[in-house]
Amino acid sequence: MGKINVLDKHVAELIAAGEVVERPSSVIKELVENSIDAGSSAVTVEIKNGGISYIRVTDNGCGIAREDVPVAFLRHATSKVREQDDLENIGTLGFRGEALASIAAVARVELITRTKQELAGTHYVISGGEEELCEDAGCAPGSTILVRDLFYNTPARMKFLKKDMAEGNAVAGVLDKIALSHPEISIRFLRDSRETLHTPGDGKLRSAIYSVYGKEFSSGLIPVDYELNGVKVWGFVSKPAYARPNRSMQQFYINGRYVKSRTAMVAMEEAFKGSLMVGKVPACVLHLAIAPSAVDVNVHPAKIEVRFLNEKPIFEAVYHGVKTALNQGDTPVAVALKKPAQTILSPFAQPEPAAQLRMDISVSQAPSSERVVAPTRPQVDAAKPPVRNFAVHDVQKMPIRMDYGMNYVRPASAPEAEKPELSLAPSPVEQKAVPSFAEQNVKLPEPPMEQEPPTAAQPLTEEPACQPERLIGEAFGTYIILQRGKDELVFIDKHAAHERMLYEKLKAQGGQAVQQMLLSPVPVTLEKGEYTAVLEAKETLAQAGFEIDDFGSGTVLVRSVPLVLGAEEDVADALMEMAGYLLNAKNDITTEKLDWLYHNVACRAAVKAGDESSPQELVELAQRVEREDVRYCPHGRPVSFVLTKKELEHQFGRI
Ligand SMILES: Nc1ncnc2c1ncn2[C@@H]1O[C@H](COP(=O)(O)OP(=O)(O)OP(=O)(O)O)[C@@H](O)[C@H]1O
Ligand SMILES: [Mg+2]
Repeated sequence: MGKINVLDKHVAELIAAGEVVERPSSVIKELVENSIDAGSSAVTVEIKNGGISYIRVTDNGCGIAREDVPVAFLRHATSKVREQDDLENIGTLGFRGEALASIAAVARVELITRTKQELAGTHYVISGGEEELCEDAGCAPGSTILVRDLFYNTPARMKFLKKDMAEGNAVAGVLDKIALSHPEISIRFLRDSRETLHTPGDGKLRSAIYSVYGKEFSSGLIPVDYELNGVKVWGFVSKPAYARPNRSMQQFYINGRYVKSRTAMVAMEEAFKGSLMVGKVPACVLHLAIAPSAVDVNVHPAKIEVRFLNEKPIFEAVYHGVKTALNQGDTPVAVALKKPAQTILSPFAQPEPAAQLRMDISVSQAPSSERVVAPTRPQVDAAKPPVRNFAVHDVQKMPIRMDYGMNYVRPASAPEAEKPELSLAPSPVEQKAVPSFAEQNVKLPEPPMEQEPPTAAQPLTEEPACQPERLIGEAFGTYIILQRGKDELVFIDKHAAHERMLYEKLKAQGGQAVQQMLLSPVPVTLEKGEYTAVLEAKETLAQAGFEIDDFGSGTVLVRSVPLVLGAEEDVADALMEMAGYLLNAKNDITTEKLDWLYHNVACRAAVKAGDESSPQELVELAQRVEREDVRYCPHGRPVSFVLTKKELEHQFGRI
C-alpha cells in the first residue's frame, strides 16, 4: 500500500488556516480589511481577553446577500477576483478568498449581515468549518462578525498565544496601522469595554495620526506631497529633531495597504542624510499611490510584503518627495529675542544681557531721582592677590604629573569613600550645562609649571614603584595621551574607559541600580509591540534603574532612571531604544536582557568621543583606568594601548 494519503477536508482546512490566522490580531486584520473593501465609512472592533475569547467587528459597508453568505465561508470564494487578468490589477485589500474560510475553520463564527437591497438580513453560524445555522435577522445594512474561542479545536496553536495583554496590544498595533492606512474611515477600538482608539474618519491623515500616536508625535511632523514618474507620495515624515533610535515608527502604505518596503525605507533615510544625528532614524507615515499593475501584492499570505515591477521610480519619488518636504518644512525655529525693556539708560551704554536684566530690576525699584544707572564692570579687589588664570592653550601645554598605584597620593581631605563619582555628564535633575574648560577658569595647581621633572637625584617619593605619568593631552577629543616612564606613550579611549567603569558600577549594584526620580515623569509613545515588550519587562527595567508605569494606549511613563544616566532629553530616547531591543529579544533570558540594559545605560551615560573634557577630568579618568585595571569596554574593544618609544623611533627611521 502506498504511503501517501490525501488529507481529509478538515485537516487540510486547519493547515491552510494556519497560514492566514496566526493570532487574534491576524483575524482582526482580515475582518477589518473586508469591511474596508465593503466600502464602510465606520468600523468598530471590540475584543475581550486580548481577542482570544471574543472578537466583534461591525461595519456599515455593503453587506453580504443571503445567497452569498454560505459561499463567503468557502475556501477560494471571493467577490474581488474573477479571472486571471484581475490578479494583475488588484485594487482591493483582499483577493485570495481565504480569510473567512480560515477563521471559521479554527473558531466559532457568527455573522449578521444585510445588503441595502434586502428587506431581511441573515444570521449565520459556523464553527470549526461546519455550518450550524442560517436564518433571517433584523439588522441595519452592513455586517457584524463575531469570532469566539479562537483555536478552540487546535490546542497546539492555542499554546503559542501570549498573555491577553500582549495579544490585545498586537490587535491595537494592527488597528493603528489600519487607521493610518484609511483616514477617511472612522476606526473605533474597544478593549474589554474600554475605548482605546477612535479616529474621526475625516479623511485627514494628520487627524488619524493624532488619534493614534497623540499630540507630541503629531507635532513633530513635516507634510510630504509629491508626484514623480506616476508615483504619488503623500503623508508625513518626522522633523529631524524628532528622529528616533529605531525604525518602529516608520510606516509605509502602498495603495492603502500597510507594507514593509525596503526600497521606500532606504529612499526616505537617504533623503534625511546629513540632517540626522548618528544612530537616529526618521519616523514616518508615508502613503504611495501607484498603478496596481506596477505592484505585485500576491507575495505572502498575510499580504504584508509586495514586489514592484520597477523599484527605481518608487525610490526616486520617495527620495525627492521627502527631500523637498525637508527643504520646505524643516525651517529652524525662529528665535525672537526679547527687546530690552524701555530704560532711561544712557544711549551710549551697551550693557551685556545679564547686566541689563539686573539693571532693569534696579531701575524699576529705585527711586526716580536715582534712576540713571551706569553699567559697571566688576571691580578688582586690590587687597586680594591677583588670581592667576591660564588660557586654554597654556593649560593644554601644561604637563600634569600623575602618580599611580602605590605612589598615588590621595589628598587627605578627600578620602576615597567620600570622593564624588567621576561625573562627566550633566545630571538630568539639575539640567545645568557643563561649563567649558575656558568658562570654568580652571586653576590648576601652581606647582606643575615650575616643578622640575623628577630626576634620579630627586625622586618623587622615597621609593618609586613605577615611573610617574604625564598627561600629554587629548587627541581628536577622544584619546587621552600620556607618557609613562621614559619609553612609553599610553593612549586611552575616554569613552570606552568611562563606559566600562559605569557598566561595572551598574553590575556591582546587583540588579538594584541606584535610581533618581525625575522631576516630572517623561511620557514615551511606542509602537504597540514595543509597548507590550516594555510592560512585560517592567521588573527587569526596574533592576536596571528604570521605573516605568503604563499610561495606556501605547504610552508609558518613565518615573525614575538610573542615577548615572545623563540629561533628561535622553530618557525618551533611551527607552525607545530599549523597547526596540526588548521586542526583538523575546527569547533572551533575564540576565542577558539586564546585561544589555547595563551596556546601553553605560554607553549613554559615558563621556562621548568629541565631548570637551578638562585636563582634570582626563587625568582622573586615566588614574582610574590604571587603578581599576580597566582593559576592555563592555563590547570588548580595548580601552588603551601603548606605543613604545622604540616603535616611534622606528617610524622616524632613527633606529
Ligand atoms: N464585511 C464584509 N462586508 C461585505 N462583504 C464581505 C465582508 N466580509 C467578507 N465579505 C465577502 O466575503 C468574501 C470572502 O471574504 P474573504 O475575506 O474570505 O475573502 P477575500 O476578502 O475576497 O480575500 P482574502 O482571503 O484575500 O481576504 C469577500 O470576497 C466579500 O465578498
Ligand atoms: Mg478578505
